[in-house]
Amino acid sequence: MLTLGIETSCDETAVALYDSEAGLLAHLLHSQVDLHREFGGVVPELASRDHIRKLPQLIQDVLERGEVSAKEITGVAYTAGPGLIGALMVGASVASSLAFAWRVPVLGVHHMEGHLLAPMLEADPPEFPFVALLVSGGHTMLVAVEAIGRYKILGETVDDAAGEAFDKTAKLLGLPYPGGPALAKLAESGCEGRYRFPRPMLQKPNCDFSFSGLKTAVFVATRDRDLDRQDRADVALAFEQAVVDTLAGKCLRALDESGARRLVVAGGVGANKRLRERLGTEMSKLGGRLFYPRIEFCTDNGAMIAHVGALRLAAGQVDVDGPVARARWPLDSLEPL
Ligand code: KG4
Ligand code: ZN
Repeated sequence: MLTLGIETSCDETAVALYDSEAGLLAHLLHSQVDLHREFGGVVPELASRDHIRKLPQLIQDVLERGEVSAKEITGVAYTAGPGLIGALMVGASVASSLAFAWRVPVLGVHHMEGHLLAPMLEADPPEFPFVALLVSGGHTMLVAVEAIGRYKILGETVDDAAGEAFDKTAKLLGLPYPGGPALAKLAESGCEGRYRFPRPMLQKPNCDFSFSGLKTAVFVATRDRDLDRQDRADVALAFEQAVVDTLAGKCLRALDESGARRLVVAGGVGANKRLRERLGTEMSKLGGRLFYPRIEFCTDNGAMIAHVGALRLAAGQVDVDGPVARARWPLDSLEPL
């Protein structure tokens, strides 16, 4: 099965070719960061238009990069949700049109399943079962993964996602969009102990998260104050420590609840170095292991979509009612393989 994967759920236009035997053949990404920067966040209509503009050339380029001709493609996969509805519709329409023209099956796949299984693109993939911490701009959840498509949500955020908290706090600190990586960079020069922020819901006996109060705590600590660069770095570090502590604490609870000893961290915030290091240490203490995708496959990418698409298309799953685009789509409603 040679699958072309298309990801357009938010502000990255990404494509990839995944071969069921040979693995990932090629992947390309166009980031819209420059387009949205002046607005301080993603403008949905501009995102959709830019996906339309960039997708055809990217598809041609990825075929060239993978040394594949269109005739060799045996399936097309695209992100059907969750995400920005207009942006999703671009990927869904282009993928479905190409599949129609090439007379091959097409399937809309779940963006978070793409993230969840992204560590399987690496040389030493995790075996089932495992617990996955999915931390992105729109989602924060802990999932017990029994097999592909068998997902039990152990806990999720009741308000902001972890990435959203990074982005909003970065804004408070005057950092440019996208805030998460900028805040993490600033935190590197922070001094420990000057600020301390709450660890929201850490003591609650469940696997749920809440991050909106943390962002408010940063707002209260910094408002009406003239912060120099060092102050801002100290705040950034204290914020990052609070998020990492909270995520790590809830992961331990989820591992305890499920009995698993393998933990996967995926999604944009999974690119955070402090988080990876901390989870790695916790897993060694437990005698377990942490798995994560390479940094470029933590944030949105086409490889994870081509990969999930190839698995599901090979199992005979296809779109039967035309292109699908869903702004919301519960992960635990997916069909098992
Ligand atoms: O998975 P992703 O690329 O897109 C969504 O599906 O949402 O995640 C993007 C999120 C953004 O909130 C971004 O600020 C955050 O991931 N992020 C980070 C880092 N890199 C990306 N947050 C903290 N530290 C990072 N190094
Ligand atoms: Zn994502």
